[in-house]
Amino acid sequence: MFGRVKPLGAILETAEKKSLHRTLGAFQLMLFGIGCVIGTGIFVLTAAGAQKAGPGLMLAFTIAGAICIVAALCYAEIAAMVPVAGSAYTYTYATMGEFLAWTVGWSLVLEYAVAASAVSVGWSGYFSGTILNEFLGIHLPASLSAGPLALGGAPGGVINLPALVIALLVTWLLMIGTRESAWFNAALVAIKVTALTAFVILTLPETEAARFNPFLPAGVFGGLGTGVGAVGAAATMFFAYVGFDAVSTAAEETKNPQRNVPIGLVGSLLFCTVFYILVSAGAIGSIGGQPIMGPNGVPFPAGSEELARQCAMPQYAQYLVCSDEALAHVLRVLGHGTIGNMLGIAAFVALPSVILILLFGQTRIFFVMARDGLLPDRLAAVHPKWKTPYVVTVITGSVVAVGAAFLPVGQLADISNAGTLYAFMMVAIAVMILRRRSPDFPRNFRTPALWLVGPATIAGCIFLFVNLPTAAMIVLPTWAVIGFAVYFGYGRRHSHVGLGHFEVHEPEYADIEPDIPGIADRDRS
Ligand code: ALA
Repeated sequence: MFGRVKPLGAILETAEKKSLHRTLGAFQLMLFGIGCVIGTGIFVLTAAGAQKAGPGLMLAFTIAGAICIVAALCYAEIAAMVPVAGSAYTYTYATMGEFLAWTVGWSLVLEYAVAASAVSVGWSGYFSGTILNEFLGIHLPASLSAGPLALGGAPGGVINLPALVIALLVTWLLMIGTRESAWFNAALVAIKVTALTAFVILTLPETEAARFNPFLPAGVFGGLGTGVGAVGAAATMFFAYVGFDAVSTAAEETKNPQRNVPIGLVGSLLFCTVFYILVSAGAIGSIGGQPIMGPNGVPFPAGSEELARQCAMPQYAQYLVCSDEALAHVLRVLGHGTIGNMLGIAAFVALPSVILILLFGQTRIFFVMARDGLLPDRLAAVHPKWKTPYVVTVITGSVVAVGAAFLPVGQLADISNAGTLYAFMMVAIAVMILRRRSPDFPRNFRTPALWLVGPATIAGCIFLFVNLPTAAMIVLPTWAVIGFAVYFGYGRRHSHVGLGHFEVHEPEYADIEPDIPGIADRDRS
């Protein structure tokens, strides 16, 4: 089971066949990274983060950002070395064998698909609040704008209709072969960064020191399984950085990757970390961001029914932690209604592209797993006209839409984080194994101080994982059990490596190897 290792040579042969142009510089990589990363995390989850940690949210962003930076450095080495689709799954296949690779691929479903649901719910908050309410004067009832347990919404949610619709719409776009062009990505990055910059400029002058006191109302460690306190918030806000791993998949197309990949990865993460800290400082310092405490002095869980009930009371109407569109809400409370609405439009316009990137990543993982024989071949069927893996896209998109329709954004983000943290940890292990096992293999980029950075990544991922709320932690082993059933029921017997086929490239799929948004022309030969 652990002996089924896909030979590195076979994987690299795939990569060589693709013969991609090296066209990307550090700046383009950063643009690409920022485009993937900034989304629901900062625009929406800021409210959930404040409910968990109050002003300690700033510390939470710092902790999560630092862990992502070490993880990114590990990703960069392996991505530059094994530059093929399937990212963490493929890396694990080449180092730790099929079974563990399966667990990584399976947990990446949580990363990408569940994250796509979370971003859909985040988008829904801005759509209902800014577009419907502010501009069209339509007040969508709670029963249609929130799942049964949505953050901050009045109790009584039944289905989150806008989230369902946007997830299906993006699925349709992907199915017909929509790709994001470099210009489109750059434009969306400009929109998001302008919105956040305006937010910082308007809120920072309004900050008052008193609002940061107490700085850690729920402590640093809120208690294992509670998901509160600064580290509990860090485990949730980790979501705001998810997506940078997409940059590593562009390593093969980067000029001078030794220099540019780490600059691109670390640069985009540092940029986002600084922005996130400034935005949370502005939000909390200007209108206040203390959590609503339960009777025992512990904040009510974000996304819980109890919190929703509190938020429905008039005295909490203006609270940051009760808002579905946190940043626009802050600006409105400060009297900048028009700019608040413009920020709402920015989120409305930009978040669907994050959903697109995540869903795209998901279909890519399933596609590679099906190509390896671990999932039924039919899933990898390519549409004759659109040239997309439409079967897997429709199935994934429907599941994402259902998740978005019924679950609250904070819980979706936590579940997504659980899967992502597992995958990042495995990547760090894979990099270290490959350094030992194949020390002389050509590497376009070497993680600096790997024997510090690798263990730091592993420790950081475990640390954040154990600080997630219990419910999110439990999802990972539960999901794993389902995965084992699929693997032993199907994948193990059909695996191409298990059957002795090592080729990893099937020419009929070549034309649908996913493009990376922002990279226009891939020259395949
Ligand atoms: N990091 C992405 C977001 O915040 C997934 O929406």
